[in-house]
Amino acid sequence: MAIATQNSTRVLNSSLAHKIMTAEEAASLIQSGDQVGMSGFTGSGYPKAVPVELARRIAEANFRGQEFQVSVFTGASTGPELDGALAMAGGIHLRLPYQSDPETRKRINAGEMDYMDIHLSHVTQFVEYGFLGKLNVALIEVTAILEDGRLVPSSSIGNNKTWIDQAERVILEVNSWQPVALEGMHDIYYGLEAPPKRGPIPLVKPGQRIGSPYLEVPSDKVVAIVLTDAPDRNSAFKAPDQASRQIAGHILEFLSWEVQGRMPANLLPLQSGVGNIANAVLFGLEEGKFEDLTSYTEVIQDGMIRLLKSGKLTCASATAFSLSPEMLTEVNANMPSYRDRIVLRPQEISNHPEIIRRLGVIAMNGMIEADIYGNVNSTHVMGSRIQNGIGGSGDFARNGYLSIFMAPSIAQRGTISTIVPMVSHIDHTEHDVQVVVTEQGLADLRGLSPRQRARLIIEKCANPDYKALLLDYLVRAERLSYGKHTPHLLTESLGWHNRYLRCGQMLPREN
Ligand code: COA
Repeated sequence: MAIATQNSTRVLNSSLAHKIMTAEEAASLIQSGDQVGMSGFTGSGYPKAVPVELARRIAEANFRGQEFQVSVFTGASTGPELDGALAMAGGIHLRLPYQSDPETRKRINAGEMDYMDIHLSHVTQFVEYGFLGKLNVALIEVTAILEDGRLVPSSSIGNNKTWIDQAERVILEVNSWQPVALEGMHDIYYGLEAPPKRGPIPLVKPGQRIGSPYLEVPSDKVVAIVLTDAPDRNSAFKAPDQASRQIAGHILEFLSWEVQGRMPANLLPLQSGVGNIANAVLFGLEEGKFEDLTSYTEVIQDGMIRLLKSGKLTCASATAFSLSPEMLTEVNANMPSYRDRIVLRPQEISNHPEIIRRLGVIAMNGMIEADIYGNVNSTHVMGSRIQNGIGGSGDFARNGYLSIFMAPSIAQRGTISTIVPMVSHIDHTEHDVQVVVTEQGLADLRGLSPRQRARLIIEKCANPDYKALLLDYLVRAERLSYGKHTPHLLTESLGWHNRYLRCGQMLPREN
């Protein structure tokens, strides 16, 4: 059933069309204390009108001295009209599962907003199992509503299926900016039951479709429909800098070795995290020798589209687009040509441990810091200040065939070493990390004991300014540590972070 493009409205179901109202009216249906599941994933497919009106309502209530806050659950990060506006109004009580909005980050780090940073694959089941209480409202952007009431999803799926299923009432934003050609690109799997009834997910190839292209909603749950015509938030990618290109180079060289025996010539499905380094690796693959690649990942970035265009990538499975404005224009204009090669799925499927383990995904994610034993911190600066969140990195790192973490060897103009004696917060333990890469080199940690890993990470990944200090720490720890399996000097292990907080640099002053 195709959307009638000549139709002036995208709400083709006549009984639902009666529920069209303004964003202000729809926002008035959300009450203080409500838990609201909103669409949105990395700036794609989030509701753009109702959250702004909700923020206005909250600000007015606060002005009258009334408390008004809601809890906001999403797919991942959203845009300024959602996270930014609600955070600015002081309207968020609890936020989950991933954010990257500057105002939200500021409020969380000021202790003014509660934030629950959980694995993206856990979110839907936490709600379904009742761990997070009742979901009052689902606020979901869609591309269109068909005659029979089914919904054509928009540029991300995230947790929308579960929000609609679990919420008491549903508000839909129908965004005519989203291309109608998105219809058919999605694959919504409705077969995931709760334990003990849960069976295997029948997905054995990255590009396979196992569900329906449409979301379903009982029409009596829909309390409001708001028409919008507003673009997604998409940020430009920086051209890969030298460090990113060097990191990409190390990974490509490593993969060239892996295909000589261990891995198929076309590699295994690629997962590529957020950010410019991840994108640089994809750019590197475009110039490299690998053909017939596949991807089972979370977001489709510019680099993925370039690989699809060049024919190097045969299919990409994800839960959202995350494109630069230029690439988005190009993709939106040519959406039909991508429809057979891109599948957008609920994030409970795109990030599902069962599938990631079955397909043998190569997980490549950014990090804030790693320690000499291979523990990785993806989320906290100096152990306490949240940057974004764990996102799907844990889903992919623990369950992938290979788990690669990457970062430049220094941050903040060299005042910080990203390789440290002990990480100040742990997201991925030494057991989940197989490869650490910086622009200096790549450490393959597979099969190594903690002390072997420490020597390799220092040798291959540490910045020259910090190498001798790390080695000095290791040697003294090997001599003086309580246990010699993972040697540490507990009075010193976080001393570098402490020094940075006191003096603005990790290096001792005399250096
Ligand atoms: N100590 C202190 N600050 C650090 C740091 C460190 N060791 N490493 C990086 N930073 C700072 C940078 O200086 C930068 O600060 P700025 O915004 O003030 O310039 C900021 O953190 C972001 O770093 P950047 O180098 O731009 O990294 P990035 O865009 O590649 O992002 C992560 C790196 C780790 C923040 C990002 O990959 C992330 O959020 N990861 C977790 C989620 C994830 O992996 N998702 C993918 C799963 S599919």
